[in-house]
Amino acid sequence: MEGSTKRPRPNMFLLKNKENGDFNQYWYSKDTIEFMKNQVEKHSKSCAFLSTPSIYFSLKDKDIKGNSKVFDYDKKFYKDPNYVFYDFNKPEDIPTDLEGVFDFVVIDPPFVTEEVWTLYATAAKYLLAEDGKILLSTIDEREEFLKETLGVDKKTFRPSIPNLVYQYSFYANYEDEEFDEANPEIPEFD
Ligand SMILES: C[S@@+](CC[C@H](N)C(=O)[O-])C[C@H]1O[C@@H](n2cnc3c(N)ncnc32)[C@H](O)[C@@H]1O
Repeated sequence: MEGSTKRPRPNMFLLKNKENGDFNQYWYSKDTIEFMKNQVEKHSKSCAFLSTPSIYFSLKDKDIKGNSKVFDYDKKFYKDPNYVFYDFNKPEDIPTDLEGVFDFVVIDPPFVTEEVWTLYATAAKYLLAEDGKILLSTIDEREEFLKETLGVDKKTFRPSIPNLVYQYSFYANYEDEEFDEANPEIPEFD
């Protein structure tokens, strides 16, 4: 209809879930969630979401969602049938029937130290099938460590995380042309 303006649809996860500082929760922006959701739906049939609930809960593809699990410390998500309680300090507590069953893992830990990343890398390797894909976000200073530990490369397209003071980068162990452009949400100062 002429003159009608369509309002952009809100992201229901962002609308319903306030960030909880006790768990270091910093959600990606709506557009970054959309970007990551598209990556998962394009490259995966069964994904392990490690500390990345906004992406799992924004999936549209019911088959992929049904084959995926959302691993998080925040028990508020327990009603979802694919929620798995996960404390990154105890990768050995991950249920053994989940070993090697995922073709994709998405990771955004609450802390960015090498010690914490080592524990997430242990969990990711345990959950991934052979040749599984990895998409993660963290600070630029972890580039070398993550290349050695998980074989991921830093990408041009970077995530927007509106309430986080650091600018993170994306890292992945696979190629996709969508990683090659800068994210228009992120102001460039140089
Ligand atoms: C920086 S946020 C990442 C969220 C992500 N950017 C998103 O939009 O989904 C850190 C996440 O780790 C979770 N978390 C906090 N403590 C944890 C722990 N001990 N073990 C595993 N996950 C934890 C939080 O609940 C939160 O989902």
